[in-house]
Amino acid sequence: MELFDVYPLYNVKPVKAEGAYVWDENGIKYLDLYGGHGVISVGHTHPKYVQSITQQLNKIGFYSNSIQNPLQQELAEKLGRISGCEKYNLFLCNSGAEANENALKLASFVTGKSRIVSFKNAFHGRTSAAVAATDNLNINAPINLQQEVTFLPLNDIGLVIHELGKGDVAAVIIEGIQGVGGLDEGEKKFFKKVKKACKKSKTLLILDEIQSGYARSGQFFAFQHHKIKPDIITTAKGMANGFPIGGVLISKRIKAKYGMLGTTFGGNHLACAAAISVLDIIEEEHLMDNVNEVYNYFLKEIKSVPKIKKVKGKGLMLGLEFDFEVGELRKKLIFDKHIFTGGSSNKNLLRILPPLTITKEQVAIFINALKEVLV
Ligand SMILES: Cc1ncc(COP(=O)(O)O)c(C=O)c1O
Repeated sequence: MELFDVYPLYNVKPVKAEGAYVWDENGIKYLDLYGGHGVISVGHTHPKYVQSITQQLNKIGFYSNSIQNPLQQELAEKLGRISGCEKYNLFLCNSGAEANENALKLASFVTGKSRIVSFKNAFHGRTSAAVAATDNLNINAPINLQQEVTFLPLNDIGLVIHELGKGDVAAVIIEGIQGVGGLDEGEKKFFKKVKKACKKSKTLLILDEIQSGYARSGQFFAFQHHKIKPDIITTAKGMANGFPIGGVLISKRIKAKYGMLGTTFGGNHLACAAAISVLDIIEEEHLMDNVNEVYNYFLKEIKSVPKIKKVKGKGLMLGLEFDFEVGELRKKLIFDKHIFTGGSSNKNLLRILPPLTITKEQVAIFINALKEVLV
């Protein structure tokens, strides 16, 4: 059988990884500033993380949600405390798209409405409901959906108020910082006014923190830069350093009922052990402080690099915008300088999503390499 060929792949086969580095089968060492779409939060093969999942696997890896799993409770408590979101309940699932799908479903249940408001260039995943809340980026084919979605320009509060005023919107879904779409973000006053308009029209506000969350932006969740309180927060990617897991943080005002949501694999023992160890490492190694320190260093040093039009994003969720397409630049960085970076639907944007453990020295390696390839 052949693979269903949906991914354009670089010709690199990683066989080993440690911290911010990956080695290929020929022993070439790469600096990983992309972390497999931003999932590597505490660094590749972090010893504590490896130990936690190995030990857990030798006890019990999986049993379904029909029996008690104290690790889910431990994860919920730690996540609540470390993120400052104690006033939410946690539903565990397996991926970002699934988290958003559950969030949108929940919003429909709670409000009795079905229309969703989302924003241009948003990306919320590829299951039916999540695709529904994804702008028509050319990577998503339109499909037949039960939940109608209205896409609005980011930061146009007048249009948001107008749509919510119609009274049929279940939820507004918005990324803390847009990822795949190219690192645009809502302004502080926009987030605040959206929250107010949601409250007034009894619409739920869903913050998709799947990429921008888990300390990546320099706050635990990117919306915390704006001091608002969403009704639902979705998370995945960095949550278990690459182990598949997703979470829906649900305001305590929304009451759970048996059978309302469900999953076979979600919150399994192994996924919880992985996620707990990620939170422990974020806390013990003060990774949020590291994100902010390295970000400040990055902002200072990047000024010395020519041809950059704009630096976008926050913390270690960064984009460098050029006035040319970055495809060739990314190839040169991988094959000449051995540095992984990312792209986005904005073809002129180089995306940087390194492990949160990255050091200033490693950023300096990137800056020097970038200067050399841009000559
Ligand atoms: C903001 C955002 N939401 C949702 C998703 C979907 O997550 P997953 O690929 O785990 O389904 C992504 C993935 O890139 C994302 O960046």
